[in-house]
Amino acid sequence: MAIEQTLYALSADGVYPFHMPGHKRNPAFAFCEHPVSLDTTEVTGADDLHDPHGMLAETMALAARLTGSRQSYLLINGSTAGLLAGITAATHRGDTVLVARNCHRSVAHALALAGVNPIWLTPTWNAALGTYEQLPPETVRQALLAHPEAALTVITSPTYEGVVSEIAAIAETVHAAGGTLLVDEAHGAHFGYSPLFPQSAVTLGADIVVQSLHKTLPSPTQTALLHVCSDRVDSDRVQRQLSIFQTSSPSYLLMAGIDTCLRLLEAHGTELFAAYEQRLTSFRRTAAPWLLPANGDPGKLILPCENGAQLARDLREQFGLETEMHGAHHVLAMTSVADTDEGFERLATTLAALRPTPSVDSIACPPLPTVAVSPATAYNSESERVPLAEAAGRVAAEELYCYPPGIPLTVAGERLTDELVCYIANQQAAGVHIRGAENETVKVLLK
Ligand SMILES: Cc1ncc(COP(=O)(O)O)c(C=O)c1O
Repeated sequence: MAIEQTLYALSADGVYPFHMPGHKRNPAFAFCEHPVSLDTTEVTGADDLHDPHGMLAETMALAARLTGSRQSYLLINGSTAGLLAGITAATHRGDTVLVARNCHRSVAHALALAGVNPIWLTPTWNAALGTYEQLPPETVRQALLAHPEAALTVITSPTYEGVVSEIAAIAETVHAAGGTLLVDEAHGAHFGYSPLFPQSAVTLGADIVVQSLHKTLPSPTQTALLHVCSDRVDSDRVQRQLSIFQTSSPSYLLMAGIDTCLRLLEAHGTELFAAYEQRLTSFRRTAAPWLLPANGDPGKLILPCENGAQLARDLREQFGLETEMHGAHHVLAMTSVADTDEGFERLATTLAALRPTPSVDSIACPPLPTVAVSPATAYNSESERVPLAEAAGRVAAEELYCYPPGIPLTVAGERLTDELVCYIANQQAAGVHIRGAENETVKVLLK
């Protein structure tokens, strides 16, 4: 079927979206209802994303006003573009960069493009869920004692599951060492609009913050913001990098979607979040036996269970509820201001018909490889595909990861160990799709 027909079919199938995008396909949050009549280019009066002086500059100023940043930039290639631009703008080739290991794969790509040397920091591990959680400020402090030359520290907060780190304490530590802090807040664009949610890193001392509007706010897929929050960051370099990583023909429909979302937050954010807070709090009360208590962002609903894949399938096929993702022993449902009373009721009624079945198994943290060469060196070296079973001791030519969440098991330039090869093989045997390890082969550098 043609893509458009498939999309119409999907939107009419009655399945309720507990996943991105944050507008939840709710007509009350519609934008650009007649796309073809609005889709344009840099004609007179339409401003220019790469040299904004008119309406786009106004939207950027609105984003800065709402979030409290010094300068905000519109992203139409998601947080991915913001992370590529932010990391390349805040570093110089050869710099040392501290990076939390639960980074998104776009951070790994940025490290290679920037030509920097990562030092990996390991966040705490939740063995019940098999997920990374917060990065303790003490981990950052110790890493900076060992690497006082680190120019940049990159952390993910909140995580996909909504766990936040102590940004203010981490920012203080990084700044005391003379460095800069970039927070990947892709999952936290809705922070700061209501006391039920954590404060945004923008107001907690981070220097650069990247947020995906499309994940948790009523804004179209691909839309995001990059915020420069301090004078430790050279805005000219950020703008230059954005002009490299973003298309020279940005979609006016997407930019209008960002503007509509921000104007809505400015005019009605308080009421929208008050209503959302009420729905969420009442849902969490009703569904408490099936949910983990909120740990950071209460909008992320985590359903612990014996078999995550099975529960996600049952919710979709038997109850018409599509969730965002699942792990071995949990399912993650995403909510936003655009969720309806009916949506929450359907989930509550469905859960009431199921028995809570949390697993008692614990999940081991993926083994960490060691750095052999920098990501940039790996990207620029000759490579070959070899059977996974023969890959131990070889150096990865690219990232291996599951999607979602897109956290790399290896980054290019890391040496694969026996333990990691065994871990990947076991995951594949359990039915997990590991990107980059298709057909039981992986790409490694030539010897
Ligand atoms: C933590 C994190 N950072 C960044 C990204 C990239 O965001 P986007 O899809 O807006 O490019 C994702 C995407 O899932 C993510 O989970």
